[in-house]
Amino acid sequence: MIRAARSADDFALCAEINNAVNPDNAVTAEQLSTATGAILLHENGYAYVDRSNMPGSAVENGFTAVRRSHRRPGIATALKRAQISWAAANGCREIVTSMVTANEAMRAVNERLGYRPLPAWIVVRGPAG
Ligand SMILES: CC(C)(COP(=O)(O)OP(=O)(O)OC[C@H]1O[C@@H](n2cnc3c(N)ncnc32)[C@H](O)[C@@H]1OP(=O)(O)O)[C@@H](O)C(=O)NCCC(=O)NCCS
Repeated sequence: MIRAARSADDFALCAEINNAVNPDNAVTAEQLSTATGAILLHENGYAYVDRSNMPGSAVENGFTAVRRSHRRPGIATALKRAQISWAAANGCREIVTSMVTANEAMRAVNERLGYRPLPAWIVVRGPAG
């Protein structure tokens, strides 16, 4: 079952899942409790979604994570469907998300849900001063 995280225990579970899946970007339950968007929680995964500054759109600018031991029965797909429902319920017409090219799992989940690539941006850097 998927629900919006609300209680201290919910945020602690979410932090525990994040830190197991993504130890390089560890978070605390307290940090998660101050998030402005919605943290959608399953006992073995979570996903974050928030509004963008652009009217009518939502940005999944957090993480979607599923415990390694529970991958492939469809938890991420269910979480992302819940994000889509959250966005619709909050007046959004579309969701924008991003991932590295090498993340085949996330790309596959998104593609099956109807997400399609936008034109690519090129990030450049140059000397200052
Ligand atoms: C990406 C992630 C959330 C997917 O979670 P999941 O619950 O295993 O995904 P689902 O079970 O919903 O997968 C749905 C479909 O996506 C595709 N898919 C999922 N994982 C895949 C993989 N590793 N390789 C190829 N296709 C994959 C499959 O088509 C799958 O359907 P199938 O199992 O019937 O073949 C999970 O792998 C994860 O937590 N990864 C680490 C965190 C991460 O990279 N997050 C995204 C950061 S942008």
